[in-house]
Formats: sequence, C-alpha cells, structure tokens
Amino acid sequence: MRVVVTGANGFVGLHTVRGLLDAGYNVLAADIIASQLKARFEGVKRCEIATLNILSVDMEQVIKKEDKVLHLAAIARFDQARQNPQKAVRVNVEGTLNIIQACIKKKAERLVYASTGSVYSHDVPIPIREDAKREPDSIYGLTKKQAEEWFFSYSKNLPYVILRYGYVYGKDKDWGAVGAFLKRLKKGERPVVFGGRQTNDFIYIKDIVQANLLALETEHVRQAYNIGSGRAISIKDVCELCIAAMKTNLTMELKPGRAFDFPVFVYDISKAQTLLNFEPKWNLSKGIEDVLRS
Ligand SMILES: NC(=O)c1ccc[n+]([C@@H]2O[C@H](COP(=O)([O-])OP(=O)(O)OC[C@H]3O[C@@H](n4cnc5c(N)ncnc54)[C@H](O)[C@@H]3O)[C@@H](O)[C@H]2O)c1
Repeated sequence: MRVVVTGANGFVGLHTVRGLLDAGYNVLAADIIASQLKARFEGVKRCEIATLNILSVDMEQVIKKEDKVLHLAAIARFDQARQNPQKAVRVNVEGTLNIIQACIKKKAERLVYASTGSVYSHDVPIPIREDAKREPDSIYGLTKKQAEEWFFSYSKNLPYVILRYGYVYGKDKDWGAVGAFLKRLKKGERPVVFGGRQTNDFIYIKDIVQANLLALETEHVRQAYNIGSGRAISIKDVCELCIAAMKTNLTMELKPGRAFDFPVFVYDISKAQTLLNFEPKWNLSKGIEDVLRS
C-alpha cells in the first residue's frame, strides 16, 4: 500500500513520513521544497521523494489508483496567510481542490486532509465538538474552512477523512508556544508570552502521527474529527512547564494578547476516541521532556 504525502518536508510531514515507513507503508513524500526529505530519507527503502508544487503539477500524474493520500501541504502559519491572502487561497483552497479532483479521477483509496481548530468560531461552546459553528476569525482559518467545504460539497463518493488538529508541538517546530519558549530558554533568553491566560489544546506530534495513521485505515470515512488532548492549558502554564523542564531561573516576559488567539480553546475528542480509536498518549510535561531528549 502506497501513501502519497503532500507537504512532506514540513513539521508534521517529516514526522509522519517516518511513522508511515516504520509502520510498513510505501511512501511518496512530496513537497515544493524537499531539502529535509532528502537529508533524512534519500536512499531509504520504500520511500520516494518528489519535488513538486501542488498548484502547478498535474496531480493526476502523481496519484495512482489505490493510493492513499495524506494532504498536509499548506500555508500553515497565521502571519504568512495574513501577509499574502491570495497565496493562502491558492495553496490552501485551490491546491486542495487539485488534490481532491486527482483523487476522484484516479479512484484513490482515500484522502486524509489536515485541517485545524482555527476553522471554529471564537464563541463556540466549550469543549468544542465537530458540529460547532465554523466562522473563522483568521485568514488562515478561513482558507482551511473553505478547503473543507470542497470536501463536503464536491467530493462525490471519495472516501475522505478530515482531521482538525489542535495546537501541535514537537521536535523541529521552534516557533509558537513550546517551540519558541524552548528556543529562547536554550539561548539563555526570557520566553515571551502574549496574553497568557488564554488556553489551548496542546497535542504532541507523536499523537498526531498516530491520528494520521488511524485516519488512513478507519472505515468511518466522510467525517471530520477533532484531534487534540481534550485538555485545556493556559499559555502561561505551558511556559512554566518549559521553564521547569529546562531547570532554569529565567522568568517569562508578558506582552499584550493578540486578537487571533482563542480566549479558551479545548476539544471534545470523544468522536475520534470512539470512531478512530484515537487515544492521546503524551501529556504536555512528558511531551516537552521528549522534545528536549530528542
Ligand atoms: N502545526 C500545527 O500546529 C497545525 C495545527 C493545525 C493544522 N495544521 C495543518 O497541518 C498541515 C501541516 O502543518 P505543518 O505544521 O507541518 O506546516 P509546515 O509549514 O511545516 O509544512 C507545510 C508544507 O507544505 C509545503 N507547501 C507549501 N506550499 C506548497 C505547494 N504549493 N506545493 C507543495 N508543497 C507546498 C511547504 O513547503 C511545507 O513543507 C497543514 O495543512 C496545516 O494547516 C498544523
């Protein structure tokens, strides 16, 4: 069984390609930039690497009948989407449509799409269920929601699975809460916390890899799933955990909050637990220790 992974050179992609190979899959790892893929996987058995742009390459030439496709390629950062909304729409919406069309045409086995909690409105009931209102407050969230709509309205009989990841952290992500905190602490600098009381649902990259693999096999397709820990933790507490894990006397520097942060964000993950058999295995302190070990 071959899995085509788009955006394979990114943070989630690199970890997932490793997880797929370890689980015995053949992998076509594709990205517009393939430097990390080449450094880590060139010459590795059962792994092909393709440098391609999901917008300019005819994806029908790449995807074969019976492939499973994991679509991760995206403009995945809020600031990049805000700076260039047109590009975010092209890559996140049009790029996803290209993949959907190729999967339908080539009769791919299934398409798993990496979506995000940023598709939900800021005022949804907590914990957030999959049927909560989706009126995003960010350009990034809007493009990811628009891509989801193509699955709901256009995907015909294509078996798809939408995974709405929570706040993913792990090795190789040195920005955002956890990543940026550890980066600054390692340099002997104070970590900067914006706001601080807002909560998020932090999920370790190894649990995300688990969810991706489950989504590639589940019989419960044509569904969207929240993929998180199901626990709310404030950004201040996350920073304290990073400081404790680094065993340092440095303290956090507090700055005003940002409008695009949810005041409270935590998932109801019971649908993924019941239908996908998804069970997060890493709590935040264990995850931070694992990042520091690796
Ligand atoms: N990291 C998170 O916290 C998080 C949370 C929720 C959802 N997601 C989603 O998960 C997916 C992966 O996120 P990530 O953190 O690995 O992001 P990332 O930015 O590290 O990786 C995205 C990859 O897509 C590639 N890409 C961009 N445009 C492309 C194009 N036109 N053609 C081919 N490849 C292209 C980039 O080169 C990059 O390697 C994204 O779809 C993102 O929206 C991530």
